[in-house]
Amino acid sequence: MRKTALAVLCFALFGCEKKTTTTDGSKGAPDASSAQAAGGGDDVILIGEVGSLTGAEAAFGISTKNGIELAIEEANEAGGVKGKKLAVRVYDDQSKPEEAASAVTRLLTQDKVKLILGEVASSNSLAMAPKAQEAKVPMISPSSTNPSVTAVGDYIFRVCFIDPFQGYVMAKYAREKLEFNTAAILKDVKSAYSVGLTEVFEQKFSEMGGKVVAIESYSKGDTDFRAQLTALKKLKPQGLYIPGYYNDVGAIAQQAEELGMKVVLMGSDGWDGPPLFELGGKAIEGSYISNHYSAEDPSPNVQNFIKKYQAKYKVVPDSLAALGYDSARVGIEAMKRAGSLDGPALRDAIASTKEFPGVAGTITLNSKRDAEKPAVVLQVKDGKFKYVATVNP
Ligand code: PHE
Repeated sequence: MRKTALAVLCFALFGCEKKTTTTDGSKGAPDASSAQAAGGGDDVILIGEVGSLTGAEAAFGISTKNGIELAIEEANEAGGVKGKKLAVRVYDDQSKPEEAASAVTRLLTQDKVKLILGEVASSNSLAMAPKAQEAKVPMISPSSTNPSVTAVGDYIFRVCFIDPFQGYVMAKYAREKLEFNTAAILKDVKSAYSVGLTEVFEQKFSEMGGKVVAIESYSKGDTDFRAQLTALKKLKPQGLYIPGYYNDVGAIAQQAEELGMKVVLMGSDGWDGPPLFELGGKAIEGSYISNHYSAEDPSPNVQNFIKKYQAKYKVVPDSLAALGYDSARVGIEAMKRAGSLDGPALRDAIASTKEFPGVAGTITLNSKRDAEKPAVVLQVKDGKFKYVATVNP
C-alpha cells in the first residue's frame, strides 16, 4: 500500500493553515469546505506551491512558504489582482522528486491553479517542470539554480541566477581571494544541482590555474562520509568544495573535523538553512559559500523586507524566504499586467519581467527565462553567515 501522503493546505487569504492527512482514496483532496471558501470559487485566484515541508530539506520549504505567504498577504491587502483576492495552495513533497511530480499533477488537474511556485531543489523542479510545461501553466522556481530547469520549456521560469555563474563565483573567490592552488570536491551524485556545480567548479578553477586534485561522491541519504574524506585527506587539498544541502554538509563537516582534516570548506546556496549551524557546529566555522542575498545588506528594500518578515515569523529570513517572496511578487505583478490569466497570456507577461526590484536583487528575465544577478560570498562566523563580498555576473 502506498504511504499516506501529507498534504499541507494553506490559504493565505484567511491567513490560516490547515494540515490534512489524506489517504489513497482521497489523495491530495483539499479540505472541501475551506477549499471552496478560500480558493475554489471564481472570486479567488488560486496559486499552487510545491515545497519540501518535511524530510531532508524541510528548512527549504518552510522558509519559501513563509516568503510566498507574506507576498500574497501584502498583495491582498493592496487590493488583489483584477478585482480578485489571491490564495495559495501548498503541497508537501517530503523533499522527494517523485512526490514533487505527483503534487504538481494534483495542482494542475484537480486544483486548476493559474501559476505554480516551486520547487527549491533543482532535482524536484526538474520532476515538476515537464508537467507544468505540458499543461501550459507557468511555473516559477524561486531558487532552483541548475540550468536544465528552465530549459524544459517556455512556461518555466526562475527568479535566481544559475549554477554556471554560482560555481564560477566560488572558484574565483578560492583562486583570487583565498589564493588556493588546490581543491577537492565532494558531490552528491543523486542531485542534479550538485553534479552540475561540480562540473562548473572544476572547469573554472582549472581555467584560473588551480588544480582539482580529486572528486569524491556520495548519494543523498548517506550518513557516513568517512571513506571519501579519508581518501581526500591524503591529498591535502587547500579547499574542499561541497556543493550540497545543509543536512549533508553538517555531517560531512563534522566527520572531516573528526578525521583531523585541515581544509577550508567551501559551498553553495544549498548550505543555507537554519539547521546548518546546529548540524555543523564548530566544524563549519570559517567556511565560505556563494549565495543570493545577505541579511546584512543595508539597502532599504532588503531591510524593509526583513522587518516585515521578522514581525510575522520571528526569525531573520534566509535566502529561500527572500527568493520565495520574490517569486510570488514577480508572478503577481505579471498577473496584473497580463490581459488574462490563461497560461499563454500569463507566460508572456512573466517573460517580459524587467528591472523588478526583488529582495534578492533586481530581476530581469533573459531569453532563457533566468535572472542574471550578482551573487554574494558569505562566511560562517560565530554560528551565522557574515557578508564578505559581492560578485557581479
Ligand atoms: N539552488 C539549489 C538547487 O537548485 C536550491 C537552494 C537555493 C538551496 C537557495 C538553498 C538556497 O538545488
